[in-house]
Amino acid sequence: MTFETSKYLQELAKKQEELKEKTKSDHWRLSYHLMPTTGWMNDPNGLCQLNGTYHFYHQFGPSSATGDAIIHWGHKTSKDLVHFQEEEIFLSPKNPYDRDGVYSGSALVKDGKIHFFYTGNVKLEGDHDYTFSGREQNTVHVVSEDGFKINSQKVVIPHAAYPKEFTNHIRDPKVFEKNGEYWMLLGARTRDNEGKIALFKSKNLEDWTYQGNFFGDDFSLGFMWECPDFFEVDDQEVLVFSPQGVNGTGFEYQNVYQAGYMLGNVDWNQAKFKQVGTFIEFDRGFDFYAPQTFEDEQGRRILIAWMGIGDTMPEYSYPTVNRGWQHAATLPREITISEGKLLQRPLKEYQTLRLAQETYHYQGQEVASQTLHGEVYEMFIQIQQAGDFSLDLREDTVLNYDSEVLTLSHGPSGYGRKKRQIALKELHSIHLFMDQSSIEIFINDGQYVMTSRVFPKLGANRIAFSGNAELAIQKWNLKETNVR
Ligand code: FRU
Repeated sequence: MTFETSKYLQELAKKQEELKEKTKSDHWRLSYHLMPTTGWMNDPNGLCQLNGTYHFYHQFGPSSATGDAIIHWGHKTSKDLVHFQEEEIFLSPKNPYDRDGVYSGSALVKDGKIHFFYTGNVKLEGDHDYTFSGREQNTVHVVSEDGFKINSQKVVIPHAAYPKEFTNHIRDPKVFEKNGEYWMLLGARTRDNEGKIALFKSKNLEDWTYQGNFFGDDFSLGFMWECPDFFEVDDQEVLVFSPQGVNGTGFEYQNVYQAGYMLGNVDWNQAKFKQVGTFIEFDRGFDFYAPQTFEDEQGRRILIAWMGIGDTMPEYSYPTVNRGWQHAATLPREITISEGKLLQRPLKEYQTLRLAQETYHYQGQEVASQTLHGEVYEMFIQIQQAGDFSLDLREDTVLNYDSEVLTLSHGPSGYGRKKRQIALKELHSIHLFMDQSSIEIFINDGQYVMTSRVFPKLGANRIAFSGNAELAIQKWNLKETNVR
């Protein structure tokens, strides 16, 4: 680290002290989810595991809790993906090619080193709309031997080298190796206002040549695709992206921006992804965007997403801004494919947080009279017979099932979040992770997930059942992992 860098980080740390005064006493601070020490967090970046250590980097505005913060890469490490340690900021916007934000990117572990690729965001002076003019998004390559120290950092695709069909919005490199070559996906908006995934190829990770669109030539969905990802799991190729500008249809695409995947096959000679089936949202709650996946040293495909979305106002908000911080990340989820369906399950490591197990079994009308308690807990409900029933959670959150539709609704503690629904003919299981201000509901063994931030009053801990069903319930209060 140069003297100049250390001085910059010291000054930033001083600014964070003021915000820390506010975060310290906030009862909405999460107990076991990843969140910023202070300030603003958005996308997960550079997810990887090197020599046993997991690295989680993230979009980070340390000294401001609002979205106009200048973005850095924050850094946390872990040995088990449950307990994380805060590390020094990894990337700061100090170079001419990234001066207005070290934007999102990915990591590739190769021969004991980590190769990071990110977007250096630059806004030019003058009268610009910053979409068709006034913005540069440079692709930058960083090499690190340990994930902490930067060994080299340089622009590998300068903004001027992108094809002219794209607007100034072209970013979020995801790099992977296939058939002895390196491939880079970039999320893009064309001059015709269509989302596309641009593809570049390289033999040495330094020199990249444009290959056309990996996906989107004959498929359209919204005006901009952010944060592309691609992986193979259980012999299935999966393409991920976060489209903006999609209209809601029925119960789907209800959030301002979406995040989802398509199953398909790649023709590597043509370098084209062909989808089989439709674009499916990863999550059907209110707060999920810009997911990123990586393969860990055990060979598991793990996904972490931003437990938030930009531009949700005026529909809903995040009241922690006045408390010195905003946003968090979802629990890490393992991705598998079973009978052609993508499943998301909470990592089994999270079972180590369980305190004493509580067990309950309710049948028929009995269900109506049951009240349990909990604020920070995991609850697994096996639905042995599904009648119509409701589950009241915290202050005014309700999960209701009526044999056709599963509905998650919030009252005032949702700060504008009202209702999200899934058409569901069969309901077997509900696996719920509740934290101080978040709720993640895994449905039917990970077939669907609903993730929502919720901001109840301190002590709102009621869990009440009503309706008619046969339910076998296990519940565990969970240990805290975050340091106050
Ligand atoms: C997605 C995103 C990315 C961008 C980053 C900036 O949430 O807009 O496209 O790189 O956030 O913070």
